[in-house]
Amino acid sequence: MELIAKYRVETDLPIKKAAAAIAAEQSTGTWTEVRGADNPLAARVISAEGKEAVIGFPEEIFEPGNIPQYLSVVAGNLFGLGALKRVRLEDVIFPEGMVRAHRGPRFGIEDARKILGVFNRPLVGTIVKPKVGLDPAGTAAVAAAAVRGGLDLVKDDETLTDQKFCPLASRVEEVMSALERVEKETGKKAFYAVNVTTGADQILERAEKAVDHGANMVMVDVLTAGFSALEVLSRNVNVPVHVHRTMHGAFTRDRAHGISMLVISRLVRLAGGTNLHTGSYSGKMAGGREENDLSRDALREEWYGLKRVFPVASGGIYPAKVSANLDGYGIDCIVQAGGGVHGHPDGTTAGARAMVQAVEAWQKKIPLEVYAKDHKELETALKYWAA
Ligand code: 3PG
Ligand code: MG
Repeated sequence: MELIAKYRVETDLPIKKAAAAIAAEQSTGTWTEVRGADNPLAARVISAEGKEAVIGFPEEIFEPGNIPQYLSVVAGNLFGLGALKRVRLEDVIFPEGMVRAHRGPRFGIEDARKILGVFNRPLVGTIVKPKVGLDPAGTAAVAAAAVRGGLDLVKDDETLTDQKFCPLASRVEEVMSALERVEKETGKKAFYAVNVTTGADQILERAEKAVDHGANMVMVDVLTAGFSALEVLSRNVNVPVHVHRTMHGAFTRDRAHGISMLVISRLVRLAGGTNLHTGSYSGKMAGGREENDLSRDALREEWYGLKRVFPVASGGIYPAKVSANLDGYGIDCIVQAGGGVHGHPDGTTAGARAMVQAVEAWQKKIPLEVYAKDHKELETALKYWAA
């Protein structure tokens, strides 16, 4: 069997020659002929037309289960080859054996829904803001206010880990006991995704500590910590894993050079994320509809039995942006707002309610302005962010 990698290539070379250079560099060859390069691990050019090069790599070149090694093959030296002006890894089709070498998510969409008791609607989440600067009690107060407004998930921001101003153990304790109080009062259950991102030598210990202190979800910045950090978490920690993609723009933003969000989505599903930030259909982050669609499908379609992953729309979302994102992602997604919740003129709980109301309006197919007439938090939000 073969792994098939698709590249978009800009080069002064004939495309067939450029494709052959990629196949050689990433398998058995180098810049000049070497004896023995025609061995069975040589990659082959499947097609090379226009700007698209499709390369088949023999499965045996890969070490099953080793995502860093996969990347060194399909996304390695080729990005620096002087003969290629720009090159983007657009997609990777994994053979069944390589997919089966991974367990994928321990907790998928269905498991997360069961824990919350929320079915048949998108989940609504928030990022605690300000992203850094709150102490554990301040973080807990914001989290509780958000869940009181009806949110399903509260998460740390990508730069908050275990700094002195907000130590992780006491943050988890304070947030989880605040959420327990809200659940007792209102019956509303919510996840708190605590950011356990750190170095390889400590991440598992840190996640276990978070769970010991009551965490019901952990979060990892997958591109700074590495795919193997995510895989260690999903294999060893018995809670769902929220996956943030901070730094992705360095790979994904340039449509002609880098690595697509689709490839990152496939790797996150292999490595076991429960939720993955995939980009929004309308929001503050650059990104395209087509790439969102591809990532969404890669996370949710049948894939050798691996559990399904929630795409997360996040970044610059507020109530008026909800419907465009839900039109794109459908019901099995998480729509998240930080500023779009906590920046509400009447505070976090009102901001949370306005987001929930925007989701309800979408589900009931009622225009937002009509729904806002008898939902005051939504009405205020629409007016406030109208400009
Ligand atoms: C994220 O981590 O996704 C961002 O912090 C979102 O924040 P925003 O909703 O305020 O843009
Ligand atoms: Mg953030």
